[in-house]
Amino acid sequence: MCGIIGKVGAGNVFPELINGLKNLEYRGYDSAGVAGVIDNKILRFRQEGRISNLETEIQKAKPESFIGIGHTRWATHGSPTKENAHPHMSNDGKFALVHNGIIENAEELKKSFLDGKIKLASQTDTEIVVQLMELFYNGDVISAISETCKALTGSFAFGILCEDTPNTLYAVGQSSPLLIVKSKTGHFIASDFCAVGEEAEAVYRLTDGEICALTENDIKFFNPSGKSIEKYPEKAEFSCSAFDKGEYDHFMLKEIFEQPKAVEDTIKSFLKENEIVFPNVKLYDNYIKEKLDKIIIVACGSAYHAGLSGKGILEKLCKIPCSVEIASEFRYGETFINENTLGIFISQSGETADTLAALRLAKKKGAKILSIVNVTGSAIAEESENVIYTKAGREIAVATTKAYSAQLVSLYALALYMGKIKGSIEEEKYKNLIKEFKILPEKIEKTIKTFTPEMEELANKIYKKKAIFFIGRLNDFATAAEGSLKMKEISYINSQSYPAGELKHGTISLIEDGTIVVAVAGKSKVFSKTASNVSEVQARGADVILITDESEKDCKVTAEFTVTVPETLKEFQNSLLVLPLQLLSYYTAKNLGCDIDRPKNLAKSVTVE
Ligand code: AGP
Repeated sequence: MCGIIGKVGAGNVFPELINGLKNLEYRGYDSAGVAGVIDNKILRFRQEGRISNLETEIQKAKPESFIGIGHTRWATHGSPTKENAHPHMSNDGKFALVHNGIIENAEELKKSFLDGKIKLASQTDTEIVVQLMELFYNGDVISAISETCKALTGSFAFGILCEDTPNTLYAVGQSSPLLIVKSKTGHFIASDFCAVGEEAEAVYRLTDGEICALTENDIKFFNPSGKSIEKYPEKAEFSCSAFDKGEYDHFMLKEIFEQPKAVEDTIKSFLKENEIVFPNVKLYDNYIKEKLDKIIIVACGSAYHAGLSGKGILEKLCKIPCSVEIASEFRYGETFINENTLGIFISQSGETADTLAALRLAKKKGAKILSIVNVTGSAIAEESENVIYTKAGREIAVATTKAYSAQLVSLYALALYMGKIKGSIEEEKYKNLIKEFKILPEKIEKTIKTFTPEMEELANKIYKKKAIFFIGRLNDFATAAEGSLKMKEISYINSQSYPAGELKHGTISLIEDGTIVVAVAGKSKVFSKTASNVSEVQARGADVILITDESEKDCKVTAEFTVTVPETLKEFQNSLLVLPLQLLSYYTAKNLGCDIDRPKNLAKSVTVE
């Protein structure tokens, strides 16, 4: 989960590299660096921490070059120090290299090729690669790149400079996002379009192992063995809006408030009259009616929690068994899938390595692939035969909110779409669901506006707590899990989520006087069961924050604090119940002075395993 950029073209590339890195900072922000060729020598600048630290150095040094590479890092091998920051250079200074991905056989390569010959300056897997370049180099850069990549196991997207060919920028990728972009002012390589911005005119997509050599006016392509090949550009279509917090203190709060529009835009993209129409989905009726017999939903983090919500509505409306898998687990477990399985892959970024790898595995096993993605042109979208695009717009905060809500409504829509085709939804029920679906955005808006002050006030009471538990049953557990993730990822408070019925099988031993337990209990057949679990924890001293909805306003649960969101149909209530939890985590983190948009150790897109 790093971001790489490179450029060769008119003008001084350093300011463009820095701006591009700022747009890639969501991929990691432990350290950053740039390098360029100046008077046939490679000059490198690196700094720990944010891009702004590097920018300050560049503003002082004022380097000028028409060719360069840049990198923003999320540390995998080696701590986030300047020595471990990219670009890394070969000992002879001939090569500079930036890398996104993980070299899994780095240690073996070090032992086989470098030990006793080359002293490494860093603890990174990447430096081993650039030293191999020096070792394999015999005057032909393409051949050195080809030989080096053949020795590697793992994922990589490289940007490379060589001082013997000062006008050429090289790139090569394997299982890691890498775009070759033609723009008005020259040629770019980038981890995603957002690094290049609106200048992009055309994009070339490399397949694994293909090498690219870019100069100001030309792009050459080579196959993994270094043989010249032809590649053809696609029109650059992508969503990439500027960064602007407006009147909000953080992108996360702005994006919480953008949820009504994100949900409305997403719903409008597939609700035509009273029918669900998916422009990029080719699941034919007879497949859905006669062949489809299992659904697997695969994702990570919040996207996984959206999948947990999706399971409930898909099983209820489509009467098809649905399992939800954590992508990093799914890849290595037994997978019982075939052509009658629909694999749904959910990803805001569309770049999450584990989700992408799980998709490739499911595709290889014959499953129908459908992805729910927020970024057009992303790797997961490109590799899916069916895509539902969420229309949440660019999500900057690492903690997802509006994209999560857009994922929920996309799953609701998919259940309505397939249930209608299967005939497993009664006509009257379908009409009621569509009618409520249309007004969900305004209920989301009402909920956010109503509970922002209340959650700000509640956060003042709980922000010093050392642990917070979130509980819920069935679909409410999905919301509890998402609320817990929001809390821990931005406030760093130790938070766990449990199926409410599970607490008494061990974890309840942790409940003591003053422990905060957030109980999510929407309208459901198990409301009374959760109510009993609330009593159990209160009997042991817990202070309970109950998140429920108006249908349960006469509920018999006396919690220390009750949040009652507007009533909606059971199928959609997760979209409302999660909102107070997003706000509670935001204001708790704000009280603690945390870096809400860039939480420590995290990145917006986890593009490594
Ligand atoms: C959510 O707030 C986190 N940022 C994280 O769990 C995220 O949902 C997960 O990494 C999946 O990302 P994706 O949706 O881009 O695949």
